[in-house]
Amino acid sequence: MSENVFPIRPLPEADQPAQPATSDAPHGAEVAGPVYEGELLDPVPVDSLITPPPAGPVWERRIDRAPVIPAWVSEPDTRRAAAAWWWDNARHRAKYHAVRLPVYALRLLAASPRGAGRSIAGATRWVADAENGELRRKLGTGDAKAAVRMAEIQRARSQSRAIRLCVAVTAAVGGWVALGYVGAHLLQELLLVAAVAALGWAGRRKDKPLVTRAVTQIKAPRLTSESVTRALVAAVPAISKEKDIDFPAPITRDGPGWRADVDLPPGVTAADVMDRRAELASGLRRQLGCVWPEPDHAQHAGRLVLWVGDQAMNEAKPPPWPLARVGQADLFKPVPFLSDQRGRLVSVLLMYANVLIGSIPGMGKTFALRVLLLAAALDPRAEMRLFELKGTGDLSVFEPVAHHYGSGPDDDTVSRCVQSLREVYESLEQRAKTIASLPRSICPENKVTPQLADRRNLGLHPLVFAVDECQELFSHPEFGKEAETLCTGIIKRGRALGIILLLATQRPDRNSLPTGISANVAVRFCLKVMGHVENDMVLGSGMHRNGVRATMLTARDKGIGWLAGATDEPLIGRSAYIDGPASERIVNRARELREAAGTLSGYAVGERQDTGPDWSLIEDLLTVLPEAEEQAHSDVLCARLAEHRPDRYRGWGPPQLATAIKPFGVATQRNLWAAKAEGGMGNRAGIRRQDVLDAVDRDPE
Ligand SMILES: Nc1ncnc2c1ncn2[C@@H]1O[C@H](COP(=O)(O)OP(=O)(O)OP(=O)(O)O)[C@@H](O)[C@H]1O
Ligand SMILES: [Mg+2]
Repeated sequence: MSENVFPIRPLPEADQPAQPATSDAPHGAEVAGPVYEGELLDPVPVDSLITPPPAGPVWERRIDRAPVIPAWVSEPDTRRAAAAWWWDNARHRAKYHAVRLPVYALRLLAASPRGAGRSIAGATRWVADAENGELRRKLGTGDAKAAVRMAEIQRARSQSRAIRLCVAVTAAVGGWVALGYVGAHLLQELLLVAAVAALGWAGRRKDKPLVTRAVTQIKAPRLTSESVTRALVAAVPAISKEKDIDFPAPITRDGPGWRADVDLPPGVTAADVMDRRAELASGLRRQLGCVWPEPDHAQHAGRLVLWVGDQAMNEAKPPPWPLARVGQADLFKPVPFLSDQRGRLVSVLLMYANVLIGSIPGMGKTFALRVLLLAAALDPRAEMRLFELKGTGDLSVFEPVAHHYGSGPDDDTVSRCVQSLREVYESLEQRAKTIASLPRSICPENKVTPQLADRRNLGLHPLVFAVDECQELFSHPEFGKEAETLCTGIIKRGRALGIILLLATQRPDRNSLPTGISANVAVRFCLKVMGHVENDMVLGSGMHRNGVRATMLTARDKGIGWLAGATDEPLIGRSAYIDGPASERIVNRARELREAAGTLSGYAVGERQDTGPDWSLIEDLLTVLPEAEEQAHSDVLCARLAEHRPDRYRGWGPPQLATAIKPFGVATQRNLWAAKAEGGMGNRAGIRRQDVLDAVDRDPE
């Protein structure tokens, strides 16, 4: 087929000359249709790595500057990864060859007779000046004088060489024997071994190397425009002709793989290709895990960025997690979370964000959540409240550092989780008040800063609240609605106040993941999901349409997903793989850090979580709703409560009151006839005094 050229742009109708300009095209360049702009007269093959100068003044062109200092020098993470790689490689080679040393010795010994034969033959040829034999024959043919002269020269040269050889051999043997006389037997033996080794080396066979390779480079086939075009036509039914596909930039090497920028035919989107990833991989004759089609978010919808790795992403060795062995984390700075297809680490800033992780079961949600929690654990300021509602103890490794911890789908664990959420919700008020009371010089942005978080007495330390399998919480018949209200409030208001909510779910649907939560989370990580609804629930609405599709992942892509909200553009990455024992070691380190900082609290020091609802609310309600009144509107009660105990109830509204009294079994009535706040009587949502008294009667204590 013909070579692809770039870029091909037809001129406007009016500008087109009469004759096609095909004659100037180099061999193989396809110039279809009538006429093209200037650069087509000089088309550049896509597969050559030379870029033609783009049009326009230099300063207006978009350029990509290569870093002055390579990443492996300037970036500590990359430097560490490179050093670890070299060290690992060197260790492997040393071990590999050390184990094989006896085999190498035997091979040298076996080859030494052949080596001795070759050496004797070589020496004989040298003495006889055989290398000049051909020349002598040529010059001596038909010229007797020259032949005689040549023979004399050869004789003289042979004699001299024979003498030199005899002297050298005699000196070597004599020296070796002399070593025996002076008692240097070890040196004598070493020389003998070296001589045998040298003879063995001289006798080696080219087809059978003495030393086998410890490391073999895996060479991946090159990606060519031809193979990309062929694969696209075969995989995507909407693409019928190869010539409709353009390459706006040369195919280049990008990390451990190839990158092709492709302009798809009009009407075909990058998302159409992503849907046919398996077919595309088949067309390219590569493993599915190597083929990563993505949209180019900075370009039009028909621009595809195809990255083809040398190795399948799920088989490639991920870079080590930088905090795995040493170090402390700072939640105010990005913490390492994923590695992208190119093997580069991607970090996520947890502070001022909330995280949602979703996928079908068994794809790596808990592992991903664990990476973020390990980073949080390594910041000794962070208070950790962790609930895993599946009951398998997936987060039990964090018990030594958790302030609150629960595991199980049972009502007790869910109620403890909700109770903990209530406390966090209530602390929002306190945190906001503290921040508001601080002078501008200390708190210029009205949000928690690292300096404020360090001052433990202010109570503005980072608070990490994680719920794994959060569908159990939100779909709980008793606590679901309250949990939704609390989490939505925490997500909306807690961001600037240092509260980080991390949620993971295997059922991202409307019932299990309320829209108030899915719409407000900042950072989202979506591993494999089955449909576009779940995709958009986790990643945000419209993501599927824009080509950010976790549906294209396969069941083998464990730990691999789309990360949105943490970087400028969504990207595909694989969460750092930290297994159970490694997590345990990190948590032990985290506990030591916390012990040193004096920040261990709650569950970690054996304190029992306060599980029961706070009965003081009932007492306060009975105070502000005296016996004389049978019932009162919720807004009136909130105002009275705020007056009664401003530090606790200021800012409360009817929904919050309804949520807070629900755990006591007190229902808010929709329509109650009572005095209105603004005067007069009316029907509004309210609470009956008798219902509150009934709740007190039900209390076992
Ligand atoms: N980053 C990763 N790299 C490689 N394998 C991974 C990675 N993350 C997870 N896995 C593999 O995926 C398996 C399932 O992981 P995990 O338990 O986190 O899934 P899950 O989505 O939480 O499942 P469930 O929905 O059942 O709770 C793990 O046993 C692990 O082997
Ligand atoms: Mg899990």
